[in-house]
Amino acid sequence: MRRIAVLTSGGDAPGMNAAIRAVTRTALAKGWEVYGVRQGYAGLMAGNFVPLGARDVSSIMQHGGTILGTARSSEFKTEAGRCKALHALGSFGIDGLVVIGGNGSQTGAYHLSQMGFPVVGVASTIDNDLYGSDITIGVDTALNIALESIDRLKVTATSLERAFLVEVMGRDCGYLALMVGIAGGAEAIVIPEVETNPDEVVRLLSEAYRRGKSHAIVVVAEGAKYNAEALAAHFREHQGEIGFELRVTILGHVQRGGNPGAFDRLLATWLGAEAVEALARGEHGVLVGQIKGEVRTTPLAEVVANRKPLDLSLLRLNDVLAR
Ligand code: F6P
Repeated sequence: MRRIAVLTSGGDAPGMNAAIRAVTRTALAKGWEVYGVRQGYAGLMAGNFVPLGARDVSSIMQHGGTILGTARSSEFKTEAGRCKALHALGSFGIDGLVVIGGNGSQTGAYHLSQMGFPVVGVASTIDNDLYGSDITIGVDTALNIALESIDRLKVTATSLERAFLVEVMGRDCGYLALMVGIAGGAEAIVIPEVETNPDEVVRLLSEAYRRGKSHAIVVVAEGAKYNAEALAAHFREHQGEIGFELRVTILGHVQRGGNPGAFDRLLATWLGAEAVEALARGEHGVLVGQIKGEVRTTPLAEVVANRKPLDLSLLRLNDVLAR
């Protein structure tokens, strides 16, 4: 191993820059050369590589997003696209690749490694839906951003005795909604993993109103069958039963744009450094993640074949705590 490349792919996540820095400086310390790939797999296919020295990754750790840029590439999902990428890697004399990203990105990493190229993944997505890491880079910061928004919404909701439907990201995974709902003291949490009857949410809200609550928060995952828009339409038909006046807030990409907190910077640093150590010991075709508090590798084949389970007992706990 003499020369490696690093890329960020898919949705940006707070902490990606800390991972780029850790990969770069750990590799430089081994006497290797490092190239950054711009715009994820799109840049990999186009040969959009830039040399990274120690100073190029100075003072980036505290910023959200990714200095390398990122992209979602449909061409890389094809064999022809991946052949282009292999050609570009070959023409730059790259011996190993670090892919920082979530599910789609690690699926791409798996396919590339199946074609014989040494690839190591670093678990990074705000969705926390990646098998092979209990928590992924960006989750903690995204949770705190959503939580701060909910705390603010509660202030105005209380003043006017309103209920807020707050939609959070997560694609088809309810992790962010579940965690932020519990931490934010939501009256109800709606996630894709559990079929929710909207009449049941109407009942919860109207009971909360009759119990004298001055506000109510329903946290909804964007991937739920009844997302914020669908629930709001249903609630409008039942406004009389609910009691609270209703408002809807969709947090969207706001959750992704924050500067990483200490947890994400540290996690990214550990995972990024370990990705280089894995390449150094000849271990590739793996994802570096955190499992039971330790930095561990999991074969990419296992990562792409499995779905990370969500602890649904927390949903029942919230029903009790929301009284
Ligand atoms: O995977 C991260 C994520 O932010 C999801 O939560 C969300 O569904 C998706 O990306 C949004 O993608 P885009 O930034 O392409 O709109």
